[in-house]
Amino acid sequence: MDVKCVGLLWFVLLAFCPFSVPDSIPIGMFKAECHDRHFRLSVSANFLGQKFRFDVQGGSEIHEISDQWAAECGYTFTLDSWGDLQLRASYLACLVENKDSEFQLLVWFVNKDSNGEEKSYPLLLTCPLQIPWSPREFVCEENYMEVSVLKRVPPDDHMGMGSETRSPVGLDEGLTEWRVVFRIPALHQEGGMKEETVPVRMAHLLGYHINTTDTRILMRCPYGSKLAYTLQDETELEVVSPTILYKVKWTLLTVDMSVACSKNQAQMDGSNVLWSLPRDLLPLVHPPFIEKGLKLGVRGRYLSECVAHQRGYMIHDNNGTLEVRIPFGAEGGFIKSHVIDGRYSQSYFVDLFLLREWEDAAWSLTRQQTFRALSIRHLPRPITFINRTVTSQGEFSVSLCCFPPDISLVNVSVADQLLVWEEMEKSGVRLSQNPMLNNSYTYLLRIPFEHPLISQKYLGDRFRRYTFSGVFSFILFPDEDVYNHPATVEAELQDVVLPKLEGECTKHGVHVLAYYGNIDSSEWSMYVGDMGLNWDLVELGGFSLEAHERYLSLEVPLYAPGMAYEGLGLQGLLVSLTVSLVHFEVAEEQTHLQRCVFPVNELLVCLPNGRMVVMVDTAGVSPQVNPNHTSLLDPACRPLVTDQSRALFSFSINSCGTVAKNDGNQIIYRNEVRNMPPFPPNLRPLSQPQPHYRVPLACVHPENGDHTLSIYLPSHPPTSLPITPTHKTASYIKPHEDKDERSQSLPVGG
Ligand SMILES: *[C@@H]1O[C@H](CO)[C@@H](O)[C@H](O)[C@H]1NC(C)=O
Ligand SMILES: *[C@@H]1O[C@H](CO)[C@@H](O)[C@H](O)[C@H]1NC(C)=O
Ligand SMILES: *[C@@H]1O[C@H](CO)[C@@H](O)[C@H](O)[C@H]1NC(C)=O
Ligand SMILES: *[C@@H]1O[C@H](CO)[C@@H](O)[C@H](O)[C@H]1NC(C)=O
Ligand SMILES: *[C@@H]1O[C@H](CO)[C@@H](O)[C@H](O)[C@H]1NC(C)=O
Ligand SMILES: *[C@@H]1O[C@H](CO)[C@@H](O)[C@H](O)[C@H]1NC(C)=O
Repeated sequence: MDVKCVGLLWFVLLAFCPFSVPDSIPIGMFKAECHDRHFRLSVSANFLGQKFRFDVQGGSEIHEISDQWAAECGYTFTLDSWGDLQLRASYLACLVENKDSEFQLLVWFVNKDSNGEEKSYPLLLTCPLQIPWSPREFVCEENYMEVSVLKRVPPDDHMGMGSETRSPVGLDEGLTEWRVVFRIPALHQEGGMKEETVPVRMAHLLGYHINTTDTRILMRCPYGSKLAYTLQDETELEVVSPTILYKVKWTLLTVDMSVACSKNQAQMDGSNVLWSLPRDLLPLVHPPFIEKGLKLGVRGRYLSECVAHQRGYMIHDNNGTLEVRIPFGAEGGFIKSHVIDGRYSQSYFVDLFLLREWEDAAWSLTRQQTFRALSIRHLPRPITFINRTVTSQGEFSVSLCCFPPDISLVNVSVADQLLVWEEMEKSGVRLSQNPMLNNSYTYLLRIPFEHPLISQKYLGDRFRRYTFSGVFSFILFPDEDVYNHPATVEAELQDVVLPKLEGECTKHGVHVLAYYGNIDSSEWSMYVGDMGLNWDLVELGGFSLEAHERYLSLEVPLYAPGMAYEGLGLQGLLVSLTVSLVHFEVAEEQTHLQRCVFPVNELLVCLPNGRMVVMVDTAGVSPQVNPNHTSLLDPACRPLVTDQSRALFSFSINSCGTVAKNDGNQIIYRNEVRNMPPFPPNLRPLSQPQPHYRVPLACVHPENGDHTLSIYLPSHPPTSLPITPTHKTASYIKPHEDKDERSQSLPVGG
C-alpha cells in the first residue's frame, strides 16, 4: 500500500488551526499509511512523552480521541507490542473529509514532555480509495463494529414523477426522519425475536452512529451496546440487527444493517496460537453463500500465500469453524521474554486481520475485515538444550535454543567459576551466538574435555567420565531480569592411561618408579606391602620419596618395613617388595612385586614359624675352621649347605639342642654354631674336645606365641624382643601378609 501521508508545513495549517501553534514535524517519528478502508498512523515509541493524545479536526470542530467517542466514531488507538502508538481511523470515521474517492483527515498529535510542556504536531492524512466499495462492508475492529452499505435509490422510471418534483431536501434533513428497527431476542420466547423501532436520533443516543454519505449508509457501534446480543455456538458472536427505514425521493426504502463480529480470543493449540471464528455468519448471510476470498494480514499488511505458508500461518475450515493457526513465536508477531519464579516464559502478540468476501442472495459482494490483536501471555517456554557432543572430538559441544532478541547470554559459570563472555576465548572456552532465520538465536558452547573446569571421574577398566556442569546466565531487556539455566552433560571415554609401576634392585634396597598415567595421581593410594604410604612411614622406614614430572620415585632400604623375607641362601638374602597403587573409588589395583637378592656373609633369621635360619662365615677364624665341620649344639645338626667359608643352618627352635628360657613375658631360644671336626674313624675319643669356634645364636619370641620375623647379625644376637622396627644391631623385616606362608616353607638357599 502506498504511503500517502503529508506532514503539512505549519504555515499552511495555521490558516485553519487557530487553537494551537503547531510544532515542526520531527523526521522519522511518524509513519502514516493508507489501507483498504482506514488510515493508519503510528508514532515511534521513543517520541512518546509522559502524556500524549490525538485530536482530530474537521473544519473548525476539534475532538480529542477518547475511548467512547473513538468507538462510536471509528477510531482505534493502541500501544502496540513494540511500544509504538498506533492510530487506525476508518475512512468513514467522524470528521474525515469524504470526497468519495479520496479521504482526508487532520490529526493533531499532542505530546507532553517531561517538563510538562505540550507540543502539537498536525498531520494531514490523505488517502485515495484504492479498492472500490463493495455493496456491503463490515469492519470488526478492536473497539467497534461498522457496517456500510450502498445506498439504493429507486430507479427513475418507478418514480412516475417529473424531475422537477424531486426532493431538494439535503441528506441531513432526511436523516432526522429515519427510523431504525432493532431486532432483539424476546426474553420469554425460546429463539423468538422482537422488534423495537426508534427514531434515528434515539439510536444515536443509544450509542449507534448512523449516518449517510453520498453513496452509502453507515452504522457503527461499540461492542456491548444496548441492543446487541450474543450468539453462542462453537464460537461467540456479537450481533446487532437494525433495519434502517429511509426515504429517498418520497420512496420509503429499508435496508438490513445487521452486523456481527466474533469475540473470540486466541488460545494455544499444541505449539500454535489458535484463533477460531464462525465460518457461517448466519445473521449476515442470505443463502446460498459463495465464499469469494479469504486473506490474512499482520500489522495492517496482507500476507501473500507464499509468505503465510513460509511462516507457518494456516487457515482451516473445521466443520463450520474457521481456524487460524500461527506457530507461537512466528515471524510477524512479537515475542516478549519473562522470568517468573526462576522459570523462563514468553508472551506472544500478533496484530492480525482477516479479510473475508462472499456473495449471497441479497448482496452481490460483502466484504468483512476483522482486526484482532491476539496475545498469548506467559507461556512457559522450555529452553531446548541440545547435546551435540561427539565423544571422539574430545570436547563438549552444547547448544541452547531458541532465544528471541530480547534476551541475551551474558555469562556462564562452570564448576562455580564465572566466565565472562569476553574472557572465554582466553580460557579455552568457545561460545558463539548464532542467528536463525526466524529472528531468534541459539548459543553454542564448546569446551575441551581436558579443560580444568571439566570434572573427571575414573570409572574403572580405563573408562573415564567427563562432566560439564554449568549455569548459563541470561539478561532480559528492557527489564534486566536475569534468567539462569543450569545444564549438565557427560561423556564417557576409554582413554585412561593407568599408572605403571617399575622396580629395580639397588645395592641397598629396592627402587620403585610409579609413572603417573593420565588421571589425577591423587586418586591413587600407594601401598608398600600392606601399609599405606604416608610421610610417617617414609620417615619410619627411611624411605626416600621424590616426585618427578612423569613419575614418583621411591627407595625402600633393605631392612625397612614392607620388605618381605623370602629366603636365605649362599647367594644372599632373598627379599621381595610389593608396591601397589589402589584407586580409592573403583578399588582397581596396580601391583608390582620386586624380588632382590642381597649378598650377605652372616645372618640370623628368626622366622615366625619357629625356625631359625643362620649363616655363619668362618673366614678369618684362627685356627681355620672347615665350614663342613660345623654343627649346632646337637652335633647331629650339620649345615645344609656350605661353601669355602660359610655354612648355612636351618632348624626348629624345638630341635638341635636349642635351649629355651623364660624371661618375663618372653622366651629366649639359644643355640650356637661350633666347630665339630670329625675324628678319624680309628681315633674316637671318649669325650668331645672343647670347640674353639663358637657363634651363639638366639631368637626371642613372646610367651604368647605371637612369633614375628626378625633378622640379626649373628655377632649381635638379640637379648630381648625388638622394640622398634629398626633394631639397634640390625633391622627386622616385617613379612608381607600374603608371603607369610610361602616364606616359612621356602627351602633356605633361594
Ligand atoms: C453525518 O455526516 C455528515 C457528513 O459527513 C456530518 O456533517 C454529520 O455531522 C454527521 N452526522 C452525525 C450524526 O455524525
Ligand atoms: C459438525 O457440526 C455439526 C453441527 O454443528 C455436528 O452435528 C457434527 O457432528 C459436526 N461434525 C463433526 C465431524 O464434528
Ligand atoms: C525458530 O526456529 C527454530 C528452528 O526451526 C525453532 O525451534 C524455534 O522455535 C523458532 N523460534 C521461534 C521464536 O519461532
Ligand atoms: C552473570 O550475569 C548476570 C546478568 O548480568 C549477573 O546478574 C550476574 O551477577 C553475573 N554472575 C556473576 C556471578 O557475576
Ligand atoms: C551427551 O552426549 C554424549 C556423547 O554423545 C553422551 O555420552 C551423553 O550421554 C549425552 N547426554 C548427556 C546428558 O550428557
Ligand atoms: C665340604 O664337603 C663337600 C661335600 O662333601 C665338598 O665338596 C667340599 O669341598 C667340602 N668343603 C671344604 C672346604 O672342604
